[in-house]
Amino acid sequence: MMRSTLGVIGLQWGDEGKGKIVHRLSRDFSYVVRFNGGNNAGHTIVQNGQSFVFHILPSGILHPSVIGIIGDGTVIDPSILWNEIQEANRLTDSVQNRLFISENAHVIFPWHIEMDIILEKQRSCKIGTTKRGIGPVYGDKIYRTGIRMRSMLQPVTFLKELKEAISEKEAFLNQISQEPVHFDAKKIIDDYMFYAEKLHPMIKDTGSVLREALRKEKSILLEGAQGTLLDINYGSYPYVTSSPTTIGGATTGAGIPPSSIHDVLGIVKAYVTRVGEGPFPTEQKNELGEKLAQEGHEFGATTGRPRRCGWLDLPALQYAIDINGITSLALMKLDVLDSFSEIAICTEYKNGFSPAFTETELIYQTFPGWNQPTRHCKTWSELPPKAQNYIQFIEDAIHCPINIISVGPGEKETILK
Ligand code: GDP
Ligand code: IMO
Ligand code: MG
Repeated sequence: MMRSTLGVIGLQWGDEGKGKIVHRLSRDFSYVVRFNGGNNAGHTIVQNGQSFVFHILPSGILHPSVIGIIGDGTVIDPSILWNEIQEANRLTDSVQNRLFISENAHVIFPWHIEMDIILEKQRSCKIGTTKRGIGPVYGDKIYRTGIRMRSMLQPVTFLKELKEAISEKEAFLNQISQEPVHFDAKKIIDDYMFYAEKLHPMIKDTGSVLREALRKEKSILLEGAQGTLLDINYGSYPYVTSSPTTIGGATTGAGIPPSSIHDVLGIVKAYVTRVGEGPFPTEQKNELGEKLAQEGHEFGATTGRPRRCGWLDLPALQYAIDINGITSLALMKLDVLDSFSEIAICTEYKNGFSPAFTETELIYQTFPGWNQPTRHCKTWSELPPKAQNYIQFIEDAIHCPINIISVGPGEKETILK
């Protein structure tokens, strides 16, 4: 048995390839924990050539030995979760017997989704949210007006809370919306009471489950959603998500002490992508960006929106490494650069880096491309020397070891350095 707690954190604007790495590493862990966000996340794993996207289930759940936890810091749309459990059940041993859902996680309701849509429509500066109700449900949590999963354990109380919330939220949304808002109360009640009954056996004090696991020296993998630059505190605010996406959020979102986290693995693409609005200094709004998008199949795993693409940004990466205390890195999607004749990296912001990314001049260094496929490479020495140089340059610049290099979506397309 392995005694360790490992955080796995996205270091850019999400979609770095966390799902692939979490799936690959998690067979050696007893527990895999989602600690932040909700079904705004889309984590892709490829197993036996088939690809699956997890939105709220931990990406390690397909390994029958893994116990999955959806922790205190998450927000849950019960219909998405229930459907995902059914889907996962077709691929692995009964998920509901080894999944625990935090009683402290907040429940996403139709009014959160409606409000997400209304707010986005009214904003002069659009965020480009996933429209999954994420901002409004975290808003309710902070206002102390939310409903938590624990309510589902008491059907009478839950029914009462539901009825009150439906009429209050409908009245409120009609005040702020230009269009009339009407909720089908009977349908909402029927649906949510159904999910409450189904999910009931899995709802637990997951923090105490994990602290007990720590006492028994079991291994825990903490699976971050989104990426550091989308963090509510440290990202490119206001163009961020509404939860902490950094390692600090893993302790409050899972209910375990910071001192229990031994290592933090940072997941970073060999270039950068972003879905939605907000600053993106190294974005290539040209044929190079289009080529990155095409070679990397850069379409959102949750919303299908095209991802914006650009070159690797070392000052932003260093910032993300420092905030999370990253102990090693996985460099993803190296193969996407295989056919570029020249590859650039931003090495410096002339006026210094800030996650607010005020207008600034960037300094780039360019590297000759290797112009040959890397997907078959199984070891460091099989990589083309020019690809090795590119990786070595990054490693030296950021003073952090790159221990994993990913050259394809499949589990085997991975080099351990
Ligand atoms: P996550 O949100 O961080 O889990 O990442 P997503 O699943 O949203 O997006 C990553 C995409 O890249 C998925 O389609 C993966 O299957 C794919 N992917 C992961 N690693 C690699 C890689 O090394 N090479 C290529 N070509 N694709 C990869
Ligand atoms: P994973 O876990 C990429 C982005 C949205 C939007 C902003 C706010 O797959 O990496 P929200 O719906 O959270 O209020 O949207 O955050 N966003 C993501 N971008 N990957 C994600 O998750 C994301 N989750 C949210 O596009 O710009
Ligand atoms: Mg994703």
